[in-house]
Amino acid sequence: MLAVAFQLVSAVCADPVDAVAGRLIARHRRRMGRLRRRHHGARLTIGAMPLPSRETLYDALTRVIDPEIRRPITDLDMVGTLDIDDGGAVRAEIKLTVAACPLRDELVRGAREALAGIDGVTSVDVTTRPMTTAEREALTAKLRGGGEAPEIPFARPGSRTRIYAVASGKGGVGKSSITANLALALAGRGLSVGVIDADVYGFSIPRMMGADGEPTQVDNMILPATVSGVKVISMGMLVPPGRPVVWRGPMLHRVLQQFLTDVFWGDLDVLLLDLPPGTGDVPLSVAQMLPAAELIVVTTPQVAAAEVAQRAGAMALQTHQTIAGVIENMSWLVQQDGSKLELFGSGGGASVAGNLSAALGLPVPFLGQVPIDIALREGGDTGRPAVVAAPDSPSAKALVEIAEKLQTRAHSLVGKPLGVTPL
Ligand SMILES: Nc1ncnc2c1ncn2[C@@H]1O[C@H](COP(=O)(O)OP(=O)(O)OP(=O)(O)O)[C@@H](O)[C@H]1O
Ligand SMILES: [Mg+2]
Repeated sequence: MLAVAFQLVSAVCADPVDAVAGRLIARHRRRMGRLRRRHHGARLTIGAMPLPSRETLYDALTRVIDPEIRRPITDLDMVGTLDIDDGGAVRAEIKLTVAACPLRDELVRGAREALAGIDGVTSVDVTTRPMTTAEREALTAKLRGGGEAPEIPFARPGSRTRIYAVASGKGGVGKSSITANLALALAGRGLSVGVIDADVYGFSIPRMMGADGEPTQVDNMILPATVSGVKVISMGMLVPPGRPVVWRGPMLHRVLQQFLTDVFWGDLDVLLLDLPPGTGDVPLSVAQMLPAAELIVVTTPQVAAAEVAQRAGAMALQTHQTIAGVIENMSWLVQQDGSKLELFGSGGGASVAGNLSAALGLPVPFLGQVPIDIALREGGDTGRPAVVAAPDSPSAKALVEIAEKLQTRAHSLVGKPLGVTPL
């Protein structure tokens, strides 16, 4: 079903400016090489310098990172032919997961630069070809950690990814806005963050996060879109604009499962799920597939909204999930004179947190209040959430503070020097 929604990007585009520049550099290097060789009368050396070995060339390519999978192309077995002739001319072939145009140009440029920087190389010719089916299958198996059958990486024993499912009783209280902003605030701290738009038929994450491109599919693995370092997947990226998703529970369950198993998430510190409102099929599927997911309950200050939100939170009693806390949104509007106008009343968030603590017999933290703010609404409409587009706005500041209260996985790789790029 998803396979139908995906279309492989297969157009290979020419890069005329780059190609001309590359040819000029290559011609210059060849001339210099000829001059140096003539001068020294050596055939296999340039000046006193021996020609680099294939290993040296290969080593240089370890610095070329696949922009989508974010690992060195050498790790991904994307290097094909790689040789150097007596004159120092290098020929390199890169095997593309799909022949996607933007990816291809970036990779070719990266490989060319990495190889051209090696002493003794006089010219670099980088060609590309799509991987064969067998090569792609081997790559997806490798990325899955060798396992044949797709499994949910976050449900594996020992997974340290912290999972938060953003829930509410009523619709329109700001779950999606909060999810998008928390994700970017966490990524801003250097954490590796993923977002699943679990509101399969009412998706709003692509517009809010500006993630409207079609994800790339490699074999039966889907590469999520990346927005300011946050990996994002949503049904909205897969269905044609304007087409409704009219599905019953089992289909929704299946899509969620595919988002969890078929999408290449890499090693995430935090995974956020934007749930649809209420206690329907999707929150139950999430509880079933991701028992470690903690709920973040969003409410407005209004008493009626708080009562409904409480029911959504109380679902945790039945699903045995933990509640990470309660966020009150649309708490007040700051007036010209600096005073706060409580448009929707007050106390909803605190009362939901208090009542859930009593019901669960555990303290449920009240994580914070987010004011009504044009910057937050505008950020959602333009695809540049407030925490990045208007970091000084009251809502962005409140959301950054809330993000700081969220636990991330115990031993994050943030700030630790690594020999390789983390996934
Ligand atoms: N604090 C706020 N200030 C101003 N506008 C806000 C605020 N929070 C949310 N909004 C706006 O309210 C609308 C609903 O927000 P959002 O879509 O995030 O809610 P939701 O709970 O995800 O809705 P749904 O239940 O339909 O998924 C959006 O237009 C959003 O921009
Ligand atoms: Mg929403």
